[in-house]
Amino acid sequence: MIIKGDIAYTPSPQELVTIEDGYVVVGDDGRVMGTYSSLPAQYTPATTGTLTAPTLVDCTGKLVIPAFNDLHTHAPQYPMLGNGFDCELLPWLERYTFPAERHFEDPAFADHWYRRFVNRMWRVGTLRFSAFASMHTEATRRLMELCQESGLRPVVGKVNMDRNAPEYLTESADDSLAGTEELIRWARTHTPNVGYVVTPRFVPSTTSELMRGLGELADRYDLPVQSHLDENPGEVAWVRDLHPDIPTYTDVYDRHGLLRDGRTIMAHCIHLTDHERDLLRDRHVFVAHCAQSNMNLSSGIMPARRWLDAGLTVTIASDVAAGQDPAMNRHIVQSIEASKIRTLEAKRGGNDGQASQAGQISQAAEPPLTLPEAFHMATKAGGRFFGTVGSFEPGYDFDALVVDEGENPLDLPVADRLERFVYEGDDRWIERRYVAGREVPEPFAQDTGRAE
Ligand code: GUN
Ligand code: FE
Repeated sequence: MIIKGDIAYTPSPQELVTIEDGYVVVGDDGRVMGTYSSLPAQYTPATTGTLTAPTLVDCTGKLVIPAFNDLHTHAPQYPMLGNGFDCELLPWLERYTFPAERHFEDPAFADHWYRRFVNRMWRVGTLRFSAFASMHTEATRRLMELCQESGLRPVVGKVNMDRNAPEYLTESADDSLAGTEELIRWARTHTPNVGYVVTPRFVPSTTSELMRGLGELADRYDLPVQSHLDENPGEVAWVRDLHPDIPTYTDVYDRHGLLRDGRTIMAHCIHLTDHERDLLRDRHVFVAHCAQSNMNLSSGIMPARRWLDAGLTVTIASDVAAGQDPAMNRHIVQSIEASKIRTLEAKRGGNDGQASQAGQISQAAEPPLTLPEAFHMATKAGGRFFGTVGSFEPGYDFDALVVDEGENPLDLPVADRLERFVYEGDDRWIERRYVAGREVPEPFAQDTGRAE
């Protein structure tokens, strides 16, 4: 297959490759063979009657970009987008989130809202993601089935909780582990394109026994792990009280075998000590930066530039429903904005409490994230969690969006058009979606939830 269009992708955070009126050649295995400004002779699609002639998909005048990868979202929070943001994390969980997740004990409710959730992910062009489900085993199975049916390729995990949650969401450690293992084994034969991700909610809601059991399951079945870390100062203090014998929050996960090398996602990571930062780097943890959520729940502003400079893998994530918007282009914008606030505060001498002298830029001022950096964080950096995904370099799975901007009245170059889509565009601009070389049609069009 050959796609013709205006191509943009980020092989590295510093490099935005653009090819106006170019070509992406995709092999039968769904992987990119190359990107070109003029089509090499061997790929000429004109040979009529030849069975092996590649198909030309003509997207002239439209952007062709890597699809988005969202490493942190909560599927059962989809019905409560935008609620409870006068709270910080812990009251928000208690007053809004837990009661919302309770509804997923009803299979009909779960089926209805998970269809809407999966369809929305398709719409906004997030074709791979790592999702928390609720603690309900049957509803989680349904979410995985719907994802498999959709053609998207996410990973999903039943959330594990055996302490400090309302009774209606609390299982014993044994039951939680048994339900988890049942899903892991079931998924291996029933949902080949939807992986299982081991999902302790966060340290306050999982006992040592449960965390240790989950670490063992992850090892035994060689699975990835996802959780929350260092999101809110009250939460961090609570973890210190719960585990006074372990030096830091990050060490609690590590001591229970939950920082699997290169296979672990930790959401937020705002309030890290230097030691925690180094441990996350050494374990090659994917940091899911949830800038919108961090604002909504007044959690803090993660120092993205500092973590990148320290060698951490930082990706951009929605954290639905603490982030109110499922669309990753919004989160790219919000990450850049959050980063600019840090820079401005540092210039004022605000971040580190140093007073700056009039007109002098403080040493602490870190340059804000750039558009190519943030786009890379939402595509290639997160894509690595799923394999060779998130770029158009040779060998990458062709996961792509074709974006029709309508008009280009200012005759903008491709880089500016990409920026305009990221800042101003929405799902109505996305005309086609490809996963691993195959076009994916809208999975549950009747389940959008509102007139669109
Ligand atoms: N920490 C524990 N659970 C959650 C959750 O559902 N959302 C967020 N943002 N943080 C959490
Ligand atoms: Fe979260």
